[in-house]
Order: sequence, then structure tokens, then C-alpha cells
Amino acid sequence: SELAQSFADHFQNQLSWSPKIVETATENSIQLIQDNTLAAEAYHLNISPEKIQIKAATEAGFFYGFQSLRQLMPTDFYGKTAKKTKEFILPIVQIQDKPAFGWRGFMLDVSRHFFTVAQVKEVLDKMAELKLNRFHWHLADDQGWRVEIKAYPKLTEVGAWRMDYNNTDERISDWWGRPTQKPGEEATYGGFYTQEEIKDIVAYAKERHIEVIPEIDMPGHAQATIAAYPELGCVNAAPYVATGGVFKNNTYNPGKEATYDFIDKMLNEVMDLFPYEYVHIGGDECNKEQWKIDPAAQAKMKAEGLKNEAELQSYFIKRVEKIINARNKKMIGWDEILEGGLAPNATVMSWRGEEGGITAAKAGHEVIMTPSKYCYIDLKQGHDDLEPNLGYSQLLLSTAYNYKVKPDSLNPEEAALIKGTQANLWTESISDWSKLTYMTYPRVFAIAENAWTEESVQDWNDFTERMFVYLDRLDAQNIRYAPSAFSPWIDHQGTKDGIEISMHTEVNDLDIYYTIDGSDPTEESMIYDGPFYLLESLTIKAQSYRGGKPIGRISTLNFPVHLAANVKATDEKGNPMDKLSDLSYGKLHISDPHWQKAKTEMTTILAFPDTITASKLTFNALRFTISGVYPPKLVDIWASKDGERYELVMSQETDERNLIQGRNKVPMTIDFQETELQYLKVRLTTHPILPEGHHRAEQAASMAIDELQVW
Ligand code: ACM
Repeated sequence: SELAQSFADHFQNQLSWSPKIVETATENSIQLIQDNTLAAEAYHLNISPEKIQIKAATEAGFFYGFQSLRQLMPTDFYGKTAKKTKEFILPIVQIQDKPAFGWRGFMLDVSRHFFTVAQVKEVLDKMAELKLNRFHWHLADDQGWRVEIKAYPKLTEVGAWRMDYNNTDERISDWWGRPTQKPGEEATYGGFYTQEEIKDIVAYAKERHIEVIPEIDMPGHAQATIAAYPELGCVNAAPYVATGGVFKNNTYNPGKEATYDFIDKMLNEVMDLFPYEYVHIGGDECNKEQWKIDPAAQAKMKAEGLKNEAELQSYFIKRVEKIINARNKKMIGWDEILEGGLAPNATVMSWRGEEGGITAAKAGHEVIMTPSKYCYIDLKQGHDDLEPNLGYSQLLLSTAYNYKVKPDSLNPEEAALIKGTQANLWTESISDWSKLTYMTYPRVFAIAENAWTEESVQDWNDFTERMFVYLDRLDAQNIRYAPSAFSPWIDHQGTKDGIEISMHTEVNDLDIYYTIDGSDPTEESMIYDGPFYLLESLTIKAQSYRGGKPIGRISTLNFPVHLAANVKATDEKGNPMDKLSDLSYGKLHISDPHWQKAKTEMTTILAFPDTITASKLTFNALRFTISGVYPPKLVDIWASKDGERYELVMSQETDERNLIQGRNKVPMTIDFQETELQYLKVRLTTHPILPEGHHRAEQAASMAIDELQVW
């Protein structure tokens, strides 16, 4: 049969001999046995010394049985460049297996960065290995329209191209500060899939038992569409394809009938290409400011008796749902489609948390769970200092693994509406294949396991052991992955006795070796065996080892123990500002509690128990530009012996280059004349306006400081 032939082809690619296909079972064979008592995607895999049997009721079941058989093959079997082997050894196993969820997805955003047909096929190959069966293809967003639509050629002629402003430097993530494209400016970055290419990909996926679900984002996230057909937009529509982050002037006009005519024709062409049940229409993050001032949008609200813009959005989504239902297909939207009233038959993809999914399930709607904090694999997967600056916040491998897809708050009937889960790869900062695989592996293993394996039989240690086997295979194929889960975390907590240091790794049973002299750790270094205190400024470097080999990255910690450690810190009225002298340092996120935040200025008095001699102030200023947090523009320092009469010892403007976009800690050093003092007053003043190009350019910057270090 075709199925047997495709399995045989697979072996042939890896072995120096070709398996024969025969009708009747013999010894020394792989037998495919139809067993209609098994569930749709279930399989049994029995490996004995004599033969291998795969039983299943469906082709999908046989396919998954074969994927499990492949997973038992040695690493050599996977190597693209490895010599073809003649023999290999398999374990004797009896596996009875079936999926926990019917929707086991992977989402790829090809709008923010374009990936080729060959790359998409590679994604599908890898999905199939992990028994993932839904490819959610994010085809249209502000930064590019990626699917040929014959009725609307400008969607790809105009909407698929933008000014080339690619950031290939993994250390910075400047998506939010990219220059905007001007009308007439040359657009050289982009690409799209022809309808023939889409059909090819859909067929390729089908051979791998993967359904392809297109997403065309609307009514927000539509700037590329509006660039192609400005008449579909609202007042103030931005007439160019976005080059970076946007959240305004990018919506369809929900007031014009022409908009619905366009969506009807366009979506029907899309639906012709994708033969499956579901169509995703986005619905997320629609900035409705334009709707408040657009005459057509306002007239529509009046005519339809809609009380607010949320209801207008709901009206829009319900009309789109009718277009999809008319083809006997189902609409999926992100959880914002709950706003203003959910469309009658909609499936909700819950991303802002689990709440949207819970609400939808309680209302009897189907749900796919993809909460960002567990399923967004564009987030960083390790310590800020060790990761390329590609993502927004953190999603650790263990966090992804420990996600429980079915919320406890649902009763069994409601829980049955949770169709599954998926990994979402947004590509704002992912401009090439090696970044794609780095962000995907190993977290996709965790999410695939949540989708396939019942919660009750999941086990972190067992998972990580199996993961090491899979990572060896990625090595054999030269596929880049993240070693983040192996790197040590050097945890630190300011105390009255100094900085308490402890260390851990996400993956258990690794050894951590560390040094305190700045040298790189080896197995000759100290082994970490419990918390200790730092009483003076030292650099700690730590490295994990597994089986005598270094694994993961070297972590470094050099938070200083300084003269103002644990002294009283207050504002000018005497209100405590303990965070600034508690030896606790902030992580690279604005919500970390160790940051002292301020809007326009921050004045702090450090009161020392005795007179000291000081000549330097250092501190880290958080730069978290997406939230408008920047280093201060001005630092003023006064000294006092009695806490009453202060003398200015330094006033220093900070470097303008700190205004470039990104997310990091900016180390600042302010030297002053050596001074005897018992009180030090520090005033930090922010930039009065955010830099040009910032999405909140008209506002003032704010700031966040974790510690004022005096030397
Ligand atoms: C989303 O991340 N805006 C669905």
C-alpha cells in the first residue's frame, strides 16, 4: 500500500538496503495490522525479537505508530550527513498509545518575517515527528500579506513588501523602534505564497496528517491590507506596510459595506485553498481609536443600535463568521472576539491567559488553549543575560512543560470543549531559520507532550531524559536549539548579612561548578552544594556539567556589595525607599519587584550610620523601551555631613545613545570629588519626551532603578 511504501522510503533514505513490501506477514518484518477497535489516532507498537507490529484503525494511527518507531531508532538514523547504516538495534517494547487532545498545533507567523516553501515544509516534517497535527499559518498581519488572492492582486503586489529594515543582531530587539516606511520608499523585504505553492504545502501537510489552518488577522493587525487597499481603512489609515510594531491606524473599516464585500471574496478564495473545517480570523488587539472618529464606523453603530466600539467589533466578527459558516466551516478567533458578545459558533483561541478560554467553554464554545505565558515560544527561554534578546519576557522549558491544558475550574462537559493546545511562534525578532529552530527547540517538545500525553502520566525528569536523546539527533542534523534549561541560575537575595547566593538548574541531576575569581569554571572548581553569602564584591561564574561534560552556558553574577549596602534610604519626606540599598537587584522586566520606579524624577537620601568617604555613584537603569522606561537624562548628587546642609558634588547629563530601542540594564557611573559625608542625596530626572518613532512618542519617559551603589 501507499502507507507501507512511504514507510519503506523512509528507511531507504537512512539505510544501506531497501525494505521489501509484501502482502503476507513474515518473520523479520514490520507488520501493519488494521485494528478497528482502536480510536482514530491511536496505535499499538509491539517490538519483539522476531518482528515489529503496528496496529491502528486509521492511516493517522499507523503514521503515529511509525513516528514512535522512528523515535526508538538510534541517533545515526537521523543524521543527514551520517553514513547510511546497515544494522541498528531497537528496544523490545509494547506501546499502547493515543492522544490526549485532537488539536495539537504549531503556529508560525510568516508576516513579521517570511519563510520559504521549503522552510515551511521542514516545519511540517518536524511537526509530524512530534505527532502535531494542526499547522496554524499566520498569513496576514500589519507587516505583510502573504497569500496570493486573484481577486485582489495588490494584496501581494503592495501588501507583501516593506522597507528592508532587518535586524540580524540577536543582542538587540528593536522591533518597536524601527523607522516607519514612508510612502514611495523602496520596499524590498517580503514575499508571499502563490496559490499553487499553498496547495503544494497543504498536500505535503496532508501526507503527514497535518491540517493547515490559515489565519487572516482582522479587523486590527490589518495595516498591510490597508496599504494595498486604502479604501478599506478608516480615517488616518497608515498608507504603508508596517516595518515594526504598530497598534494604531491599522484596522479595517467596519462601517463600510465594501469592507464586507472584500472580506467575502477574499476569504472565499482563501477557503478554496484550505480544505479543512477551521478558518482563523485573528480578532486580537484591535485598536478602536479610529472607529471613534470614523464617520462610516459611527454611522454603522447608530444604524445597528451598537452601544460602543466593542459591540461594533462583535458586529464585524459576527458578519465574518456568517461568511465562513456559509461554506460549512468554523471560525476561530483570538480571545478578544469575546468582547462585545461572542459570535454564535465561534471557536476561541485563548492567548492573553486562560480566562478567555474558560469563559468561552462555560458558554459552550470550543476552545484551543495557547496562553502566552505557557505557549508563546517567541518569549525568552532562559536568563536575560544569557539569551539572545529575541523575545519579550520569559517562557522557560519547565514552565511550558508544567502547563495543565484543561483548567481545574471547568466541569467535565466544559472541559471536553478544550480541543487542545499549540505552540505559537511569532516572528517579530525571528528573521532567519537558525533563530526559528533556536526558539522552537526544545520547548516544542514540552508543548507537543502536553498535547499528546495525558497529564497524569507526565513526568518532568522522564521528559528531560528523553529530551537529551532528541537533542543528540538535532546535533546530528546540525539543527540549532537552546541549551537554556541546562545553564545555572545564580539566585541572589539581599540580606543584612550580605547577598545570599543559591544556584539551580531547570533540568535535575546536573552538577554545578563555580568560581569566585572571574575564571571560567571547570570540574576542578568548587561544586555548588548549598546557599552561601557574599560579603564583598566578587564575580561568580557557574557552569553545569552532565556526565562529566559541560552543558549549557556559563552564568555570571557580579552584583556588588557597596558602601551604601543596607543603609537607610528615603525620599525627602522620609518615606522609605529600601529597594535602593537592599542589595537586591532587578531582573530584566519592568514587573520585577526590586525596581524602584518613578515618572518624572526620583530623589533619594541615603543616611549612613557614620561618616564615610565616597567618590563614586553607580547604578543600573532599566531600559525597557516597549513600556517607555529609559535611563534618566540627568543625575544630580549632593553630599551632607549633618543631613541639613547639602552641597552639590556632581550634576551629569547621561549619554543620548541610551535612547536607542531595546531592553537591557544600562550601567551608569558618576564620579565625583572625594568627599567626606554622612548623607548623600541623589536626584534622577527622566527624559521629558520619548524618542521619535516610539509608539508613545508624545509621552514622557519613566525610569526604574534597583540599587544606588556608593563607592
Ligand atoms: C496575539 O498574540 N496577539 C494573539
